[in-house]
Amino acid sequence: MTGQDLAWLDELLTPSGAELLERAAAALAEGDELRAGERLRAAGVAPGLVAAAFTQAELRRRAASWFARADEMLFTRAGLEQSTAEAVARHRSARFASLVDGGRLADLCTGIGGDLLALAGIGRPLLAVDRDPVHLRIAVHNCRVYVPDAQVEACLADVREVDLAGVAGVFVDPARRSDGRRLAAGVSEPPLAWCLELAERVPAVAVKAAPGLPTGLVPAGWEVEFVAVGRDLKEAVLCSPALAAGTSRRATVLLAGPPAAPEVNVATLCGEPDPPAADGGRVVGEPGAYLFDPSPAVTRAGLVGELARRLGAWQVDPLIAFLTADRAVRTPFARPLRIEASLPFDTRRVAAVLRGMGISALDLRRRGLAGDVETLRRRLLPARRDLVPGGPAVTVVMTRYRDRPWAFVCVDVPDGADEPDSADQG
Ligand SMILES: C[S@@+](CC[C@H](N)C(=O)[O-])C[C@H]1O[C@@H](n2cnc3c(N)ncnc32)[C@H](O)[C@@H]1O
Repeated sequence: MTGQDLAWLDELLTPSGAELLERAAAALAEGDELRAGERLRAAGVAPGLVAAAFTQAELRRRAASWFARADEMLFTRAGLEQSTAEAVARHRSARFASLVDGGRLADLCTGIGGDLLALAGIGRPLLAVDRDPVHLRIAVHNCRVYVPDAQVEACLADVREVDLAGVAGVFVDPARRSDGRRLAAGVSEPPLAWCLELAERVPAVAVKAAPGLPTGLVPAGWEVEFVAVGRDLKEAVLCSPALAAGTSRRATVLLAGPPAAPEVNVATLCGEPDPPAADGGRVVGEPGAYLFDPSPAVTRAGLVGELARRLGAWQVDPLIAFLTADRAVRTPFARPLRIEASLPFDTRRVAAVLRGMGISALDLRRRGLAGDVETLRRRLLPARRDLVPGGPAVTVVMTRYRDRPWAFVCVDVPDGADEPDSADQG
């Protein structure tokens, strides 16, 4: 990004720029962007500005599922891809809201401001730091779209050189991409070790990390939270003791609705990680009438045992995260399925069961077994014409049971046929 890019962004924030953006959005909606672009250039609008307007219009459209007010925000492509969705950022900012120390909060590596705009909702003074001038400018704009009177000091600097005296809490979201390319797993800029050391200078620190973060990297006394939106695992966040809630692991599921609908439903499960299976700390037993496929937030947090206790469920295999029980429980932390058939995994036998059921759709879930899912699907359901309209939608769960490959042929539990669970709703 260049100074010229900054100039185009400033231009887009003027009344004539807003009009240009509207025309670009309308042309995109009608699939008429090429001709609309030509018309604008022919009318004397600078080609760079026309390109910037179309880029913003396209990014706003893409961001609509991420940010409720995307149509007023600005983005860069890389900044949007790395940004925190509004609902996730709001959930996280609640931790900072409860800080007793009333000092200002710092958003280091602020990007396009996905987290900054949520932190602004707390109402404290903010320090936003990024070394990319375009991101920094965009972050302040986006923050003010949500909180027009936000007190934000924008600091164009390397976060490692910023004075954090008087800062009560820091959120840092280090870059995991550079020059448009994803950095190797575990690599970030600045590195995780630097981010964690911030806790030596600032009372409360939260660090966003990739959801695949090895949990061994979480310092003692810190909490790691894995956050999913619906069934999609989005991120991990490491919280220093001042922001941790007394447990070392947390799995949070934000139930998908429209982005940042005021009442986004947050379900959170806390606890200590499951002991290693070899230590015998798992409750294992015969399959009941129902199977539960835990949220990836729960499996990554190592809270499958905690979930089993809450649901009154148990594992069919000590090493595999599927749970089972005799009653259906409605829970945000797992997808409940009713077991229709349970048999050793043999494609011909399972295919025969499916034919006998006259199924309308087939979903495959696999844990603990190798094999390409698409190849298995073709073997189980050679032709789409084998699907029977009006028949049950079936999930075949492929896993290990009794030390051998096993198949559970399942259907969803109808609404109302399940009981609510007792897990925390926050
Ligand atoms: C993952 S993005 C932040 C996304 C942001 N939390 C959001 O929701 O929009 C990372 C940002 O860190 C910035 N960055 C990377 N290394 C930096 C450093 N050493 N100092 C300052 N900014 C840095 C990049 O310019 C980029 O804007």
